[in-house]
Amino acid sequence: MGQPPVVYGQSTRPPRGDYSRADEGYTCAQNHAAYTAADHDTYRRLYERQCALLPSLASDAFIEALPSLGVKDHIPRFEEINDRLYRATRWEIVAVPGLIPEVPFFTLLANRKFPVTDWIRKPEEFDYIVEPDIFHDLFGHVPLLFNPVFADYVQRYGQGGLKAQGLGACEMLSRLYWYTIEFGLIRQANGLRAYGAGILSSSGELPYAVQSPEPQRLPLQLQRTMRTRYKIDTYQQTYFVIDSFEQLFDMTAADFTPLYEQLRGLPEFAADEREAAVAA
Ligand code: PHE
Ligand code: FE
Repeated sequence: MGQPPVVYGQSTRPPRGDYSRADEGYTCAQNHAAYTAADHDTYRRLYERQCALLPSLASDAFIEALPSLGVKDHIPRFEEINDRLYRATRWEIVAVPGLIPEVPFFTLLANRKFPVTDWIRKPEEFDYIVEPDIFHDLFGHVPLLFNPVFADYVQRYGQGGLKAQGLGACEMLSRLYWYTIEFGLIRQANGLRAYGAGILSSSGELPYAVQSPEPQRLPLQLQRTMRTRYKIDTYQQTYFVIDSFEQLFDMTAADFTPLYEQLRGLPEFAADEREAAVAA
C-alpha cells in the first residue's frame, strides 16, 4: 500500500489525496462514478477557459494534440484516452492519489506510464491550487504525450531519474523537469509559445509566460537550468526557451554523470536571478 510522500515539491503540508487507495506502485483505479456533477462542471469550465487562451499562446504541437483528449464537457475516463494514446505513442496514463515519491514516479515514466491525479479542485480553487489535480495533469501533460518526440523525451527523463537517484542528483535533474516539462517555452517561426504543463493549465501564467515583459527568458542550456532554483507558488521569473522538441531530445541525450559531478562544485542561481541573455 502506497504511503503519502513525506515531502512533495517544496511543500511540507501533507498531500490531500487518499493514499490508502494506492498499490505499491502508487497507482489506483480512477473511480469515475465518484465524480459529482459539480466536479464535471469544474472540469468543463476549466477546459473551456483554457481553450480560449490557446491560439497565439500554446505551441502548435499542443494545439494539434489537444483534441485527442476526447470529451471536454466532463471528466474523461482514463481508459478512453488510453485507447488513443497507446495507439499513438505506446504511452498510457495511470491514476494516482496525488504527487508520488521520486522512485515510483521515475519508474512509471521509464515504463511509458504517466501518473494522473484523479481528483479535481474545489470550485473555490478554480484559479489556483498548490497541488496538481486532474485538470493540470490531463490538460497540461497528456496532449504532448501524443507527440512522438516529446513522448520519448519524457520516458528518457524517467530513466535518467532512476539513474540520478543512485547518484544523489535528483534535485539537479528535477530542475530540468521543472523548466521544460512544466514551464518550458518554445520558439516557433511565428513567435514564442508555451509547451510546459504548468503554464498551459494556468489561465494567469499562460499569457504572463509568453507575453509579459517582466520575466527573463533564456535559451535552454543544461548547466544553467540545472543550477537554477525554482518557486512552486509564484509565476516563474525565469523561463528557458527551446527551438524544437528534437533539440530538447538531443541536448539531453548524453550521459549526465560527469555533468552532475561538475555542477556539484558550482553555485546555484536564484529563481529570479538575472543575467544577460546569451545569443541562442
Ligand atoms: N541523459 C540523461 C542521463 O544520462 C537522462 C535524461 C534524458 C534526463 C532526458 C533528462 C531528459 O542521465
Ligand atoms: Fe505537472
